[in-house]
Amino acid sequence: MNKALRKAVIAGNWKMNKTPAEAKVLIEEMKPLVADADCEVVLCVPFVDIPAAIEVAKGSNIKIGAENVHFKASGAYTGEIAADMLKELGVEYVVIGHSERRQYFGETDQTVNLRTLAALGAGLKPIVCVGETLEQRELGYTETLLKFQTKMALTNVTAEQLKDVVVAYEPVWAIGTGVTATAEQADEGNGYCRAAIAEVYGTDVAETVTIQYGGSMNAKNADELVSKVNVDGGLIGGASLKAEDFSIIVKAASK
Ligand code: 13P
Repeated sequence: MNKALRKAVIAGNWKMNKTPAEAKVLIEEMKPLVADADCEVVLCVPFVDIPAAIEVAKGSNIKIGAENVHFKASGAYTGEIAADMLKELGVEYVVIGHSERRQYFGETDQTVNLRTLAALGAGLKPIVCVGETLEQRELGYTETLLKFQTKMALTNVTAEQLKDVVVAYEPVWAIGTGVTATAEQADEGNGYCRAAIAEVYGTDVAETVTIQYGGSMNAKNADELVSKVNVDGGLIGGASLKAEDFSIIVKAASK
């Protein structure tokens, strides 16, 4: 982290876990544990959990995010949720382009870009996910791929809008596998994303963008990961479903 230049953000991504009632219990448990955090604390929760999560998080330092958003403002898109709808509920962040959406739901770099623009247009802060598969890494395409995905996702995003964008480097091979990237690999991957931003917006702007690492980040390895200069926090899956573990990660980013 380099807190002099950019904000550290620890965000939980609950994925398809927790009912609204369970969400309330977990957030109540988390509130006192993260109350004195010196970083942004965000919980991205399933759509139906959002009203309950916002109600319980009110008055605390926990911000609520969604896990996806559609790119159209309204219309015949059965089952989809528009950015304005999230905004009206009090949602602040939204995960976009998670590898699970790319893998299982036909998400492409182009739709990631459209969703990012829609989120920004509605005043939401996108957490834009990029990351290589193991096969792509072994073929030596990590840098090329991360730069391409980052640039594609940010197409037509202005330098002003970029202030509200968080990028999350999530190597696909490290997600939910228990295999964490080494701190050096995380720093390097995040560095590629930052370099891509620098190529488009210049180094000064790139240095101010929060870039998280995600992929089996947990209470044990968080300290080392966030000690790296390019790792400005984390996007946490499994460990964000446990109040104690999540709070330890928040504490690591609060140093
Ligand atoms: P895990 O922390 O469970 O590996 O998930 C990471 C992730 O996908 C966060 O978006």
